[in-house]
Amino acid sequence: MKTLQLLGSFLAAGCIYFGQVATALPASTSTFTSAGTTTTGTAFESDAYSLSDEGTSTSTSWRAWPTLDPKLDVGRAVAPSFNLTYLGSSCTGYKVMNVSESSTGVQATLQLRGDACYAYGTDYKYLQLNVSYETEDRIHVGIYDTDRKQFRFSEREDIWDAPLYHDASYPKDRKYAFHYNEDPFEFWVTRTSDNDTLFDTRGQKLIFEDQYIELTTNMVQNYNIYGLAETIHGLRLGNNITRTLWTNDEASPLDGNMYGNHPFYLEHRYANQTNSGKASSHGVLLLSSTGMDILLREDYLQYRVIGGVVDLYVFAGGSNGPKDTISSYVNAIGLPAMQQYWTLGFHQCRWGYQNISQLEEVVENYEKAGIPLDTIWSDIDYMYKWRDFTIDPISYSGEQFRTFFGNLSEAHKHYVPIVDAAVYAANPSNKSDDTYYPFYNGVEEDIFLKNPDGSLYIGAVWPGYTVFPDFINPNVTEYWKNALYNWSRQMTDEGLGYDGLWLDMNEASSFCIGSCGTGKLDQNPIRTQVTLPGDMYDYSFEFPEGTEYTNASEYQVAMQGQKLQDAATSTAVVIPTASPSTKAKKSEDRNINYPPYAIDNEQGNHDISTHVLGVNATSYDGTARYDIFNMFGYGETKASYKAMLELAPNVRPFLIPRSTFVGSGAYAAHWLGDNHSKWSNMFFSIPGAMIFNMLGIPMVGPDVCGFIGNSNYELCSRWMAMGAFFPFYRNHNTLGAISQEAYIWSSVAEASRRAMKIRYAMLPYWYTLLYQAHAEGTPVFRPMFFEFPDEPSLSDASRQFMVGDAFLVTPVLEPNMTTVDGVFPGDNSTAWYDWYSHEAVNRQYNQNVTLDAPLEHINVHIRGGNVIPLQEPGMTTFETRNNPWALLVALSPNGNADGFLYADDGVSITPNATLSVSFSALNNTLSTYVSGTYAVEQPLANVTVLGVSSAPQSVFFKGQNISSYEYNNDKQELVITNLANLTSQGAFSQNWTLTW
Ligand code: NOJ
Repeated sequence: MKTLQLLGSFLAAGCIYFGQVATALPASTSTFTSAGTTTTGTAFESDAYSLSDEGTSTSTSWRAWPTLDPKLDVGRAVAPSFNLTYLGSSCTGYKVMNVSESSTGVQATLQLRGDACYAYGTDYKYLQLNVSYETEDRIHVGIYDTDRKQFRFSEREDIWDAPLYHDASYPKDRKYAFHYNEDPFEFWVTRTSDNDTLFDTRGQKLIFEDQYIELTTNMVQNYNIYGLAETIHGLRLGNNITRTLWTNDEASPLDGNMYGNHPFYLEHRYANQTNSGKASSHGVLLLSSTGMDILLREDYLQYRVIGGVVDLYVFAGGSNGPKDTISSYVNAIGLPAMQQYWTLGFHQCRWGYQNISQLEEVVENYEKAGIPLDTIWSDIDYMYKWRDFTIDPISYSGEQFRTFFGNLSEAHKHYVPIVDAAVYAANPSNKSDDTYYPFYNGVEEDIFLKNPDGSLYIGAVWPGYTVFPDFINPNVTEYWKNALYNWSRQMTDEGLGYDGLWLDMNEASSFCIGSCGTGKLDQNPIRTQVTLPGDMYDYSFEFPEGTEYTNASEYQVAMQGQKLQDAATSTAVVIPTASPSTKAKKSEDRNINYPPYAIDNEQGNHDISTHVLGVNATSYDGTARYDIFNMFGYGETKASYKAMLELAPNVRPFLIPRSTFVGSGAYAAHWLGDNHSKWSNMFFSIPGAMIFNMLGIPMVGPDVCGFIGNSNYELCSRWMAMGAFFPFYRNHNTLGAISQEAYIWSSVAEASRRAMKIRYAMLPYWYTLLYQAHAEGTPVFRPMFFEFPDEPSLSDASRQFMVGDAFLVTPVLEPNMTTVDGVFPGDNSTAWYDWYSHEAVNRQYNQNVTLDAPLEHINVHIRGGNVIPLQEPGMTTFETRNNPWALLVALSPNGNADGFLYADDGVSITPNATLSVSFSALNNTLSTYVSGTYAVEQPLANVTVLGVSSAPQSVFFKGQNISSYEYNNDKQELVITNLANLTSQGAFSQNWTLTW
C-alpha cells in the first residue's frame, strides 16, 4: 500500500492542524468596528447592518459568548411503546353500518363494536369510511372521525397539495377491487388481473383513538418492501424492523428516524409470491404528516400513528415492473421538478472555507489539477455570526462577492450557499442587533411560530436563540422572498448572485427542548454548542475503517492530536450550571408533549421534543406542530421554490433541502445529509439514493468522501469515482476534518478525472433521464431489480446500481481491494459491454464475475440494446454542451438497440423550444427520428457500434459511402469517425440513417 501523501504536522500554541491542509484551519481572531455591508431593497431597507461588537463567525471570539446549557437539549427518558406490553389487546374494532356503494366508491359509517379500550388515547365511537376509486391504478381508503376533531391533513390543501387531490376520474376499468367484511369491519384490496391481495386487514383490528391509530395489513411470506424513508438501511427493509417517521436531525443513525418522512412503500413480489406466477409490484401510501411507528413483522405490517386520520392509497401496479408502480406513485404526489443542466456537474463544498479567497483557491486548484468543477458551495462560514441573510463583512464582503461572481460567471461556474431554517432572534438590548431585519421584519409581518400562549417560540441553533418562520403561513413566501432578495443585494448588483439554495437544518433542528429562549433574548448571541466541530478543541481524529496505522500515516498524527485535544478540553471548556427549561405548557386536552403511545424516536432519550423545533410550536391558524411535524422542511422548500421563481422568473430553482416529505421532489433535489467518512457509509449511500428515486426525488446524492471524520486517499478515490454516477455529485466535508477536495491526493485526483470524464460525456444521457423522471416519474438511479424484476436474487442487491436502464456500475466498497465481484443479470438475450474496453462480458447466468478494480478505476458496463448519446467531456457542463457529439450503440445479442435524447436550453421552466430524438438500430441500420425545434448546433463526430458480428462490406451515412471506419473483429466493434463534416448543421438537425 502507498504511503499516504498527506503527512501531518503539529503547530504549537495549542492549535493543531495538518500541515498541507489548506482549508481546515482555525481562523485568526479578527475584530472590526465598521459596517461592511449595505442592504437595500424593499422589505429590509435599512442602514448598514452595523457590526460593532465582538467578531465574526469565523473568528474565535464567539468562544466568549455565554453558552447554552447542553442539558437543555436532553429529553426525558421515554420508553418506546412498541417494546412494551401491548395495550390494544382489549380493543374489539368497528362494525359497518349504513353502507352505500356506487361506481365511484363505498361510503359507510363504522361503529365501535364494544366499549372504548383506551389503548393509547380515547376511542372514537363513530367513524366515516370513504373509499374512492380515484384512477385506474389508485384507490383511496379514507377513515375519519365523524366528530371532526382529528387533524385532517387531506383537508389542508393550503399546506400540501398534489395531483392526487385533483386527478380523480373514477374510471370504469380499474386494476383493483375493494372488499370488506361488516362485523368486524375488515377490508382488503385486490388486483383484478391476478386476484393478488395488495392490502388486507382481515383478522386484524382497527383502533382509532385521538392519539393512536392502528391499522394492520397481512403480508405475504418473505415480503420485499422498499421505502418508509428516511433511514440508513439496506435496500430491502426486511421482515423484522420497526420504522419510525419523526423528523430528526441526526447523522446517519442505523435504522433510526432521520431528516425526511415518506410513509410510502413499494412491494415487489416474485413468481412464487403471486397467483399469476409472474413477478408484480404495487405501492402503498399512508398519507400523514404526524409521527408513526411502522412495525414490519414476519407476516404483517402495522401502522401505529399518533394522530390524524386514515388516508390510505394503494397503487395497484402489476406485472409491468416496479418502475411502473413508481411512476404511478410519483405522478400522484407530484412529478419531480426539472433541474438545470449545470446542476449535473460536479459540486465542491465544505464547512470551513473561511473566506472568499479560499473559495477562489479551491476553484483554481480544480482547474490546475484538470478536474472538472461546475459549482462551488458555501456553508455557514460566509454568514455574519451564522445569521441567515447576512454576509461576513470581513471575509465575505460584498465587494469580494462581486469580483468572485464575475470570475465564476466568466468561467461558466456556479455558486450555491447555505440557508438555515431558523432565524437569529435579535437581542433587544444590543443596539447592533437593531438592524437585523430578517428578524424584525418577520416580527412585524407576524411570520414566526408561536408558543401556545401567543409569545414567540424561541429555540436555539448556530447563531444563538432563534425564531422559526411559519412555513404554512400564506404570507411566508413574501417574507422569505424579500429576505432572499435583500441578502442577494448585499452580494451583487445584478441578478441574485447565487444559483441555488442549500436548505439546511429544516427538520427544523433546534438545540434545546421547547421554547428555551423565551425571556432570554438579552443573552443573545448565546453560544449553542460547547464545542463545535472545528473548534480548537474539536478537531476530528477519526479515519475510515482499514486506514493504515503506521508512523507515517495521518492516523498516527491523529492519535497524538487526540491526546493533546483531550488534555486541552479537560480544562478549556466550562459548562455553566443548568437553568431550568422553559418548556411551554400544553395547550389542549391531548398530551402532545408525551403522547400515550411513545414512538421509537431515535434522538436522545426517545423524547419526541429532543433536538428539534417542538411539538407545541403553533402556526398562525392555531395548528400545532404535532399534527404537521414531519413537513416543516417541505414547507420551507415550497416557499423557497415560489420565492426563487419570483426572483428569477422562468429559471428552474435549484434547491437542496435536508428534510423532505411526500412530494418534495416537485420542488427540489436532496442530499443524504450528514454521513461519516467510512466505507460503511459509502455503501449506505447507494440504497439511500435508490430509495429517494422511488420517492420522486431523483436528483440525490451523498456527501462524497464522507462528511464527519477524516477521509483518506483510498476511501476518497473510490467514493469520488462512485459519486460520479449519482445524479447529484457533491464532495462535502465538516469543519475540523482534513481537506478532501479531489485534488488533495493524487490517486483521488486521477480517479476523479477518469470518472468525471465518463460523467461529463454522459451528460446528454443524464439530462434525458432527468427529463424522463420529470415527465413520467421514472427513477434515474435504479437498483438492478427494477430492470430485472423476475430475478429473486436481486431483491436486495445494492452493491451495484444502474443509471437508467443502460449503465451498470460496480464500485469497490471496501479498503485494500484490487478486484470487485459483480453480477451481470439477464439470460442469453442480454449482453453487457465494458465501458472502457468495449469488450462483451464473458459470464454465466447468475454467476458472480470478478472484475479488475485498481484504485483509480471504477467498473462501468453498458447493457446491450441501448443507444447512448454522448458529448466530448469538457471541464464544465457548459464546455461539454458546446463540444461535438458521439453515439455509443451497444447492440443486444439479436442485433437491436434503441435510445432517446431530450434537449432544451437547460434552464427554463418553460423552454421556448425542445428537441426529442429517438434512436433505433435494427438490421445493421441506425435511424434517428427527430422532433422539436430546439437546435443542437454541435456536429456528430463519431458513432461506435458494439456487438457487430462481422466486418461490414461498406458503411453509409445519410446515403453517402463512408470510408472512415474501423472494425475490430476480436471486440466486434465498429468505429465510424469523421462524421462532423456531414453534420455541420448540428448532429440532430434532421433525420438520418447509418448503415453498415
Ligand atoms: C448540518 C449539515 O447537515 C451539514 O452539511 C453542514 O455542514 C452543517 N449543518 C453546518 O452548516
